Amino acid sequence: MNVLEKKVADSTSEMTQLVLPNDTNMLQHLLGGTLMHWIDLIGAIVANRHCRQPIVTASMERINFLRPIPLGHLVILKGRIQYAGKTSMEVGVEVFSENPLSGERSHTSQAILTYVAVDFDGRPMPVPKLILSSDEEKTRFDNAVKRKAARLNQNQAL
Ligand SMILES: CC(C)(COP(=O)(O)OP(=O)(O)OC[C@H]1O[C@@H](n2cnc3c(N)ncnc32)[C@H](O)[C@@H]1OP(=O)(O)O)[C@@H](O)C(=O)NCCC(=O)NCCS
Repeated sequence: MNVLEKKVADSTSEMTQLVLPNDTNMLQHLLGGTLMHWIDLIGAIVANRHCRQPIVTASMERINFLRPIPLGHLVILKGRIQYAGKTSMEVGVEVFSENPLSGERSHTSQAILTYVAVDFDGRPMPVPKLILSSDEEKTRFDNAVKRKAARLNQNQAL
């Protein structure tokens, strides 16, 4: 039986990675492309847990790299769903780096991604509605609605 509504907490997810030598640039900092891959993975895990169907990434936007992440540090990626439309889901991802010796954490990146649930022929499929349980979740949802409208306008202009 398909679930018609789900809470944000039902799909909120966290993933930890370790920055290895092969993931770094000449400054021994994590490569931006590798971090974008991990951001897409945590976003996809969240979207899939919300809809329990195949999903595709429709857009990655507002990716900010605020601080470099050094070799040997841990990378903690936290994803949560912010909006569910008819077939699309917007996921917000926050990234933190953790010094493995001191445990000190800093906020290093943030991103917003949209996923679309599809069938095995790639056709968009309906997703469960989002139950908003707090004022913060309502604000995030409202902001996502505004972003979606702006995105549609922008795409039409293009
Ligand atoms: C994403 C995709 C399925 C949308 O298909 P489509 O036929 O354009 O579907 P629609 O126009 O009916 O839009 C479906 C939903 O996607 C959203 N959407 C479509 N393009 C989007 C984009 N570029 N960014 C954000 N959302 C988008 C629409 O707003 C709509 O949301 P809603 O149903 O919640 O209102 C299709 O463009 C696709 O398959 N793209 C390639 C995906 C891919 O290969 N990703 C990388 C590998 S996973």
